[in-house]
Amino acid sequence: MAKPNNASVRGFEVIDAIKSAVEKVCPGVVSCADILAIAARDSVVILGGPSWDVKVGRRDSTTASFSGANNNIPPPPSGLANLTSLFAAQGLSQKDMVALSGAHTIGLARCTNFRAHVYNDTNIDGAFARTRQSGCPPTSGSSDNNLASLDLQTPTVFENNYYKNLVCKKGLVHSDQELFNGGSTDAQVQSYVSNQSAFFADFLTGMIKMGDATPLTGSNR
Ligand code: HEM
Ligand SMILES: *[C@@H]1O[C@H](CO)[C@@H](O)[C@H](O)[C@H]1NC(C)=O
Ligand SMILES: *[C@@H]1O[C@H](CO)[C@@H](O)[C@H](O)[C@H]1NC(C)=O
Ligand SMILES: *[C@@H]1O[C@H](CO)[C@@H](O)[C@H](O)[C@H]1NC(C)=O
Ligand SMILES: *[C@@H]1O[C@H](CO)[C@@H](O)[C@H](O)[C@H]1NC(C)=O
Repeated sequence: MAKPNNASVRGFEVIDAIKSAVEKVCPGVVSCADILAIAARDSVVILGGPSWDVKVGRRDSTTASFSGANNNIPPPPSGLANLTSLFAAQGLSQKDMVALSGAHTIGLARCTNFRAHVYNDTNIDGAFARTRQSGCPPTSGSSDNNLASLDLQTPTVFENNYYKNLVCKKGLVHSDQELFNGGSTDAQVQSYVSNQSAFFADFLTGMIKMGDATPLTGSNR
């Protein structure tokens, strides 16, 4: 499996169950890609976040690109400039990137993806680093897949706590803290700390833009 997805694509049994139920009542019509996009929206809503209209009509690809996944999904050690250019390559602005990253207000990350940040980076709160070091030993091995919440405060509530963590240097992944590290995106992070509605508005704009990024439609394969 491509590196960023290996042991990280969790929960697809839920999509499979939805697909089976949909196929029973409406065979051969609704793609897995549409189900995934709708499930993402519904998850955000159920956890307290904003809602948006999901455009449907995506056709499932019958192939997967190993090199595409390896080259286009931003690796967790990325700096701000690299993150920005990887999003730009998908037609997403730096503003979209900061807003979309707020999705890390929910969910989990594997030790291997935050180990270097909690042991070796200096732009991290000391007590928070120690909390995340426990459960994630410093050397690679059987602990690599140990999980920790991306938002230490409320990992199953969709609000602006992700940004509140960043201004306290409590981002879990190196790439998270890059968004508030003395650079051009600090002001946007601050604005979401003080105004959750602004975050929600920009998040849904970003989700619709991301959903529009080169989907297969019609008879394309
Ligand atoms: C800015 C670039 C991004 C980077 C570098 C990044 C990186 C990561 C990493 C390393 C994890 C943990 C995966 C694991 O250890 O298994 C993760 C989880 C997650 N990411 Fe991102 N991410 C980014 C942007 C996004 C965006 C744009 C969204 C959605 C709008 C998103 C939604 C999530 C969610 C929901 C999880 C938790 C998944 C789970 O609990 O199974 N991320 N991300
Ligand atoms: C996927 O991860 C497993 C261990 O979690 C590892 O043995 C394997 O080499 C990895 N595969 C790739 C392609 O990185
Ligand atoms: C960032 O981009 C530069 C130039 O493309 C590249 O040399 C470097 O390896 C990248 N670093 C990361 C962590 O992605
Ligand atoms: C921290 O940095 C040191 C020195 O570069 C390196 O040997 C060590 O493997 C790093 N530890 C982690 C957990 O990344
Ligand atoms: C917060 O953001 C919303 C949405 O962008 C905006 O309408 C509102 O005026 C902002 N509130 C404050 C106090 O700035």
